[in-house]
Amino acid sequence: MSDLLTEIQRRRTFAIISHPDAGKTTLTEKLLLFGGAIQTAGAVKSNKIKKHATSDFMEIERQRGISVATSVMSFAYKGKLINLLDTPGHKDFAEDTYRTLTAVDSVILVIDSVKGVEEQTKRLMEVCRMRNTPVIVFINKLDREGRPPFDLLDELESLLAIRVKPLSWPINMGREFKGVYHIFDHSILLFRPHEKASDDDRIYVQDVNDPRLETLLPESDLRQLREDVALVEAVYDSFSKEEYLKGNLAPVFFGSALNNFGVKELLDTFIEIAPPPQPRMTSERLVQPEEEKMTGFVFKIHANLDPKHRDRIAFVRICSGKFQRNKFYHHVRLQRDLRFSNPYSFLAQEKNVVEDAYPGDVVGLFDTGNFKIGDTLTEGEDFYFTGIPSFSPEIFKELVNKDPMKTKQLEKGIRQLTDEGVAQLFIQPQGNRRIIGCVGELQFEVIQYRLLHEYGASCAFVPLPFYKACWLRGDEKDIEAFIRFKQNQVVKDKDGRWVYLAQSEWFLQTEMQNHPEIQFDFYAEIH
Ligand code: G4P
Repeated sequence: MSDLLTEIQRRRTFAIISHPDAGKTTLTEKLLLFGGAIQTAGAVKSNKIKKHATSDFMEIERQRGISVATSVMSFAYKGKLINLLDTPGHKDFAEDTYRTLTAVDSVILVIDSVKGVEEQTKRLMEVCRMRNTPVIVFINKLDREGRPPFDLLDELESLLAIRVKPLSWPINMGREFKGVYHIFDHSILLFRPHEKASDDDRIYVQDVNDPRLETLLPESDLRQLREDVALVEAVYDSFSKEEYLKGNLAPVFFGSALNNFGVKELLDTFIEIAPPPQPRMTSERLVQPEEEKMTGFVFKIHANLDPKHRDRIAFVRICSGKFQRNKFYHHVRLQRDLRFSNPYSFLAQEKNVVEDAYPGDVVGLFDTGNFKIGDTLTEGEDFYFTGIPSFSPEIFKELVNKDPMKTKQLEKGIRQLTDEGVAQLFIQPQGNRRIIGCVGELQFEVIQYRLLHEYGASCAFVPLPFYKACWLRGDEKDIEAFIRFKQNQVVKDKDGRWVYLAQSEWFLQTEMQNHPEIQFDFYAEIH
């Protein structure tokens, strides 16, 4: 097998997604411990005010304790090279997470057993479904009095519109939690709070009817387990890896990240079934990872890793071929050839200069303003990777310059911050009003802070009564006719596309009904 093929096949690139507080940070830490990427528990901290995470870089993140950045953690485990792309849990930075999901080949979804499917879980899963991303579910916090497991599974199926198949089953929950039974290999792992579970703790049995279980579990628990497992086998189809890889079926594990319980089984199954780097669609053709020529795209731009410098780092997902340091690559949008002398890879807390990188890897490239999210690098071919979404913002505000002496700085800052994907910029052709659209209030504060600290520009925001942005598609004449009467509600995005800002759902529905000749899109592709 060629080197390239070997490297591709050993890579697994994924993200952990969850509603905040479900246990994403805790699970990340346990996975890194297994991978030897960190040595001690507590090295990866939760993204709360009181702490900062391994993946956090910016001053503002430390202040607010919110993981604004997406970072990458790479580690080796059982012969596989795992790239874990971290995603901010906070809802206000959801766009960042959505874009990161375009750079992974699969995800692990963490659910809190007490809370079940939450708001952010649904939205994240919608993005996964758009791309048919394979999903493994980890139902966490079994040491708490959670909801009945069958209820949780029903909720996953109904609210997330995905079929599930439990591969492990909890024996009680909360204070009575005894452990999990692994349906896939008929083994039982007993729970001892605050003790590290090891491989030796797993007891293999014939099946759930094995009499040996009688010595391990109280009679009532065993009866319940046998009933549950019989029901699971009757209700759920057997696990099909093909269906999982197509994004139709999600295997489910139960455990407790905090107690490192059930995490190893999750990781072992993950490396067995999760897909290696997958082919990716471009504006011209499907790109196969094993193609010799390097291709990749920018899914994240991160500013000021070091607050003393004005560096930005563009995170590039390698899609095909071998990326090499100091080699010239073609920047498709700029039609320029660039080379990178200090590309970074990310091994947990450290970033290291890499000589080469393979499909599935993420390299961090120092950027002085050449990159925007969605930019494509190739070895000469002109195309861009498709499917990187830009969703409608939820809050709209007019940008007001508070210091006319710093107009230039403000312009530059806003351009760069929107290139980074921190917010979306819309411009009203009449009067040149600039409208900033964000998913959450917090992003406005981040913009204000960064404009001041990084660019020396001060601005204010005036709330606008818009509710959604819709990208308009259709015949040019139809669109012109539409915008003629809606000059206050029609703007252009940064790429010059027409966008209608609706004041309410009612207005939007009315316009959609009155203008069937125009398509109102709720998200646009970045390119
Ligand atoms: P997030 O990244 O998804 O936001 O969640 P995070 O891992 O920070 O976990 C949120 C809270 O849930 C943390 O408690 C964490 O300790 C707790 N947690 C995670 N896994 C489990 C589990 O298996 N069982 C129980 N009982 N709790 C769990 P916290 O009080 O917010 O923070 P901390 O001070 O305990 O770290």
